[in-house]
Amino acid sequence: MTTPLELVQTAQEFVRQQIDLGEHEFPCRRAPLDAFYDSIKDCQRCPLGKLRTHLVFGGGNPHADVMFIGEAPGRDEDLQGKPFVGRAGQLLDKIIQAIHFTREQVYIANILKCRPPNNRDPEPEEIAQCEPHLVRQIELIQPKIICALGRIAGQTLLKTSESLGRLREKVHRYHSVKLIVTYHPAALLRNPQWKRPAWEDMKRLRREYDGVEL
Ligand code: URA
Repeated sequence: MTTPLELVQTAQEFVRQQIDLGEHEFPCRRAPLDAFYDSIKDCQRCPLGKLRTHLVFGGGNPHADVMFIGEAPGRDEDLQGKPFVGRAGQLLDKIIQAIHFTREQVYIANILKCRPPNNRDPEPEEIAQCEPHLVRQIELIQPKIICALGRIAGQTLLKTSESLGRLREKVHRYHSVKLIVTYHPAALLRNPQWKRPAWEDMKRLRREYDGVEL
């Protein structure tokens, strides 16, 4: 019969072998989202890869039920490697808090992972190259509800050219996941009169979230 001491020794031997084999990361145990980040962090699928300071992968709870998806990193995000850390990010924090979530509870990502020069709109080819990364990220996180921030995020996720006004009107499905489209926080900073309708969108998001089976 194996004694507890022998069991411990066998386990120690296994760990030693794994380290010798260079497999000390224990792929089966590693958080899948971290492993995915490692696999794309040096991405050069489009020319933005050469221009970036940091690839902005996304951040928050890897098991989040709510996911916010913006357009692309801006200057602050590119410098820090984190999504929504500039002025628009501060407003997004307030929006998240207003519907009784915390930033740590949700997950925030973008359509593009690298900053377009001078914050211009993403090119269709950049979206085509980068979107598979986001698709995989959504598959791994498995949110219950997605909030698309702005026209580019809404149109890209829903594969449509409908206007933001039309997209805001209803609750969509991204595969089987509920999806709501609202104004981008940067647009709200430029057009404060849109804050009231954006608040209606956020109340709808909260209602839809409260209605889903968690
Ligand atoms: N705007 C975005 O769409 N994403 C960010 O991360 C920051 C600003």
